[in-house]
Amino acid sequence: MPHEGRDSSARRNCVAVVGATGAVGRELLGILAARGVPREQVRAIASANSVGTSIKYGDGSVRVLGLDAASFAGCRLAVFAADAQTSRRSAPIAVAAGAVVIDNSSAFRLDPGVPLIVPEVNADALETGTKPPRGIVANPNCTTIILVTALEPLRRAFGIGAIDIATYQAVSGAGAAAIDELLDTTRRALGIESHRSDAHVSIFPEPCAFNVFSHDSAVNPATGVNGEEQKVIAETRKIWNTPTLRITPICVRVPVLRAHTEAITVTLSEPATEHDVRAALAAGKGLQLVDDRAANRFPTPRNADGRDDILVGRLRPDPGEMPDTQGRHRRWCLLACGDQLRKGAALNAVQIAEGLGVLPRLGVLPETQILHSPAPV
Ligand SMILES: NC(=O)c1ccc[n+]([C@@H]2O[C@H](COP(=O)([O-])OP(=O)(O)OC[C@H]3O[C@@H](n4cnc5c(N)ncnc54)[C@H](OP(=O)(O)O)[C@@H]3O)[C@@H](O)[C@H]2O)c1
Repeated sequence: MPHEGRDSSARRNCVAVVGATGAVGRELLGILAARGVPREQVRAIASANSVGTSIKYGDGSVRVLGLDAASFAGCRLAVFAADAQTSRRSAPIAVAAGAVVIDNSSAFRLDPGVPLIVPEVNADALETGTKPPRGIVANPNCTTIILVTALEPLRRAFGIGAIDIATYQAVSGAGAAAIDELLDTTRRALGIESHRSDAHVSIFPEPCAFNVFSHDSAVNPATGVNGEEQKVIAETRKIWNTPTLRITPICVRVPVLRAHTEAITVTLSEPATEHDVRAALAAGKGLQLVDDRAANRFPTPRNADGRDDILVGRLRPDPGEMPDTQGRHRRWCLLACGDQLRKGAALNAVQIAEGLGVLPRLGVLPETQILHSPAPV
């Protein structure tokens, strides 16, 4: 079925958001609206369940469309924020229609022909004004984005030899329905009646209110490593082009609505003084140092919620390591908190699009800057 107004000039050069009704999709719409992309240029796409509904866009709303063969006609950019299967099936269709695809799912992240990008880290893997090789750029997993953004200044200044990381991950990392599940299980634990008709449906294998449990992704029976931990290892190695870097993660879900926390111990290649480590982090891109020992104030998910920057703090040398004769340490402990729906997904995708030149940093993209040439699939 043709989409309403698709051929009008206002609908040309559209930005398609696939999965617009989800946790990441809504965040994407918020960022696009805040950056001045006009409503007429936004095509909000979701599953058949949502077709015909309206979704907030800026001060108004947009109608939700279904995904079909004509979904990407006239689109310069298609951001996918649905499941990996939907991306595998429909991203090539979007590319063939002339759009650059930025994919939030895991579908293409480890594909050697698809760049895996965190702009603060490896933006140089993309060229402004040039389509990526297969027309697709992958957004890394949210935990990975927060980790590499937090550590990139240390990697550049001192090199990184190994990483130990324990995560405390918000439920919204599992999607919009998981937010409802935490609220609902909390209400029920407090003896407050639930109003959800699907209150029996569980996203998580354990009750998430007042609980902490190992990440809900599947555990490899042979290695004991779960899917989230495997993503952090493989994606970090790809982004930094360090295929043998030792990364030891344990990923855990906590009853927080939004923003992941990561307790990181990083082993630097070169020993460093606290002054130099602090200076490197303070000058890092996309970071904010929150480190007040006297007041015991450090990054928290509540303070990271809704922010673009990753909060980094609780910085200290590993107390188990003796300093060298110049007072330097190789092993450093820190806490990082990042809004995984924002920098961990939607914002990172928008930054990639801006870097490619398919989305202006502010306002409407001039016609001349828009990439029209379909990329080879
Ligand atoms: N949540 C995070 O923190 C996060 C962070 C980084 C990456 N990601 C990745 O981003 C993607 C989206 O995650 P999410 O948390 O936003 O999930 P979500 O809240 O469950 O939203 C999923 C979205 O996909 C849509 N959808 C489902 N099947 C579809 C289909 N066949 N065709 C078109 N649309 C379809 C849903 O539409 P309906 O509403 O109509 O069902 C909904 O809009 C996932 O691949 C996830 O791994 C998530």
